[in-house]
Amino acid sequence: MLTQAIKGVKDILPADSAKWQSLEKTVRELFSDYGFSEIRTPIIEHTVLFARSIGATSDIVEKEMYAFKDQGGDEITLRPEGTAGVVRAYVEHKLFAPQPVTKVYYLGPMFRRERPQAGRLRQFHQIGVEALGVSEPGIDVDVLAALVELFNRLGVSGVELHINSLGCRDCRAAYKAALKDFLMQRMDSLCPDCQRRVETNPLRALDCKSEHCKTATNGAPMMSEYLDDDCRAHFESVKQGLDDLGIKYVINPRMVRGLDYYTRTTFEMIAIDKKGAQNAVAAGGRYDGLVEEIGGPPTPGIGFAIGVERLLIMLPEAGDGAPLPKVYIAAIGGQAARFGQKLADALRKSGISAERDYSPGGLKNQMKKADRSGAAYTVIIGEEEMTKGAALLRNMKTREQAEVELDKLVEEIKTRTRFL
Ligand code: HAM
Repeated sequence: MLTQAIKGVKDILPADSAKWQSLEKTVRELFSDYGFSEIRTPIIEHTVLFARSIGATSDIVEKEMYAFKDQGGDEITLRPEGTAGVVRAYVEHKLFAPQPVTKVYYLGPMFRRERPQAGRLRQFHQIGVEALGVSEPGIDVDVLAALVELFNRLGVSGVELHINSLGCRDCRAAYKAALKDFLMQRMDSLCPDCQRRVETNPLRALDCKSEHCKTATNGAPMMSEYLDDDCRAHFESVKQGLDDLGIKYVINPRMVRGLDYYTRTTFEMIAIDKKGAQNAVAAGGRYDGLVEEIGGPPTPGIGFAIGVERLLIMLPEAGDGAPLPKVYIAAIGGQAARFGQKLADALRKSGISAERDYSPGGLKNQMKKADRSGAAYTVIIGEEEMTKGAALLRNMKTREQAEVELDKLVEEIKTRTRFL
C-alpha cells in the first residue's frame, strides 16, 4: 500500500455513515425548531483570525494549529473550531445590518494537532450554534435548552451540564490579578506549563489535569467571588431560567475553558463513563467582545460546539446502518441481464432501491447474493421467463413466488413495497 490515512484522521466508512446522516437529520430538525439557520464557512482562514480570537496563549494556537504558508505566501490555517469563522463571516457580510439577532448553526470538520486517543482526533467534527446580537440571559437559556434537548432527542444519558461565569473583561482583570498573586506564591508546586502561564493565562491552572496543580490551587480565589453586579445578576438570571425549564446543572467554578474569547456564561456537557472518567462532549459560552475584536460593531454572542465523534460513541447502538435494497434482480443469461439493467433503472426512477449482480452466475449463486443483500423481494428472470414475457417475483421473507408480466413488474413492485 502506498500510504495510509494520516494519524488521528478517520475514514467514515459506508457501514457508519447512516449513523452520521441520522444524527445530522435530528440536529437540523432540532435547530430549526429553535430558530437557527445553517451557515457554511470555509475550512481555511487567515491564521491571524484564530491567533487573535482563540488567543495567542491558548493550547490550540500555541501548539495545535495546522498552519502553513501557501504557494502565494499567505499564512493559512485549517480551522480548529467554528466560532471564529462564523464571526468573521458575520462581520464581513454585515449580517448585523438586516438582522440584529442572528442565529446560525454549522456542521463540519475541524483540525487540531493533538495527541490522538479515544475521542481525540486531529480531524474531528463539530456541530455548533452561534447566536449573535443578544446580551440578555434569555438567549443563554435558549442555547442551553437546545443543547440539552438534543441529548434528550438522541436518547443519550450519562451527561452532566456544568456551568460557570467568567465575568466580563473588567471584573475578570481584577480576578486575574488576585489569582496571579496566589499562584506566584506556589510557583514551585505548579507544572511547567502553568508556571509559564502564570503571567499570561493564570486561569488555566484551575483546570490543569496535573495533580501538582490540583493541590496547589486548593483554596485559590474563584471568579464567582469577583463578579461585578451586572455579571452576577446575569448569571443569576441564567440559573433561574434553567431552573424554570427544569434543566439540571452543576455549578463548576473551576471551569475556565481553553479559548480566550469567553465572557460571562460558560458551560460544558460532561460525559461520565462507567469508570467515572470525565470528558467534555460539548462546550461553549458567551463571547461578548469577539465581534468587536474582529472589526465589527460591539455585539454580544453565545454558542456551543458538540464533538460529533464523542457524541456518536454515546449513542445507543443502531446496528449496521447500510441501506437495504428493496428489490434484488437475479437475471440469468444475456437477454435477461439487459432486461435486468432496464428494470433496475425503472425501479430506481420510481424511488425503489434495486440491486443486481453485475457479473451474473447461475440461479443458485444469484439467490445466495439476493439473500445476503437483505432485499425484501427478488425478481427472477431467465431465458424461459423472457420468452414467456413474465418473471418470478419472490417474497424473500415468506418465500412465496408469483408470476408477473414483464411490463407490469414496476407497478406490482411499487404496490408491494409501498409500506416497506
Ligand atoms: P472546544 O471546547 O474547543 O470549544 O470544543 C468543543 C467540543 O469539540 C469539545 O467539547 C469536544 O467534544 C470536541 N473536540 C475538541 N477537540 C477535539 C478533538 N481533538 N477530537 C475530538 N473532539 C474534539 C470550541 O470549539 C468552541 N468553538 C465552542 C463554542 C462555540 N463556543 C462558543 N461557540
